[in-house]
Amino acid sequence: MIRKLYPHEPLPMELLLLADPSENQIHSYSRSGHCYVLEIEGQCIGVYILQQQSPQGIELMNVAVAEHWQGKGLGKQLILHAIETARVLEYASIHVATGNSSIGQLALYQRCGFRLVGIVPDYFTLHYPEPIFENGIQCRDQVRLALELKGTE
Ligand SMILES: CC(C)(COP(=O)(O)OP(=O)(O)OC[C@H]1O[C@@H](n2cnc3c(N)ncnc32)[C@H](O)[C@@H]1OP(=O)(O)O)[C@@H](O)C(=O)NCCC(=O)NCCS
Repeated sequence: MIRKLYPHEPLPMELLLLADPSENQIHSYSRSGHCYVLEIEGQCIGVYILQQQSPQGIELMNVAVAEHWQGKGLGKQLILHAIETARVLEYASIHVATGNSSIGQLALYQRCGFRLVGIVPDYFTLHYPEPIFENGIQCRDQVRLALELKGTE
């Protein structure tokens, strides 16, 4: 079951850190965002955070599934739930950003309907203190994706 986390409940930080190595960044966007959790038998095994970016646009800031549960379709379920939440809240578009080295995530977002809309060169080299490597590639640039929601129901 996926449900909204109440403001008094602690953030599932261990999960959120799987998607974003910066606890400071997580705290800053979770304060103004809404956190949703996927629970199985009372255990939190998935998470996503939505943050409004403009009156018409919302951003999926973090999505993660506990390592043991990955590869079973739960990540896709969380992303599709985030898209549906944004649609119900009547946003015109939902956005997401990832790194140039996050090949699996780029595939997954596009499978969920997102299109590539831009690149922020050197975003990760400038905003993260340690170099990040994935798939043998240095994560330097932010890749931005978006999905238009209005008129696509
Ligand atoms: C990214 C993440 C949320 C995906 O969750 P998941 O439960 O493992 O993903 P799913 O099992 O739902 O996979 C969904 C689809 O993506 C595909 N996929 C996953 N990894 C892939 C890869 N490396 N290359 C190609 N496709 C991939 C799957 O094949 C599946 O496709 P299908 O539905 O057509 O079969 C999860 O791996 C995770 O928490 N990673 C660490 C945190 C993270 O990187 N978050 C994203 C930050 S941008």
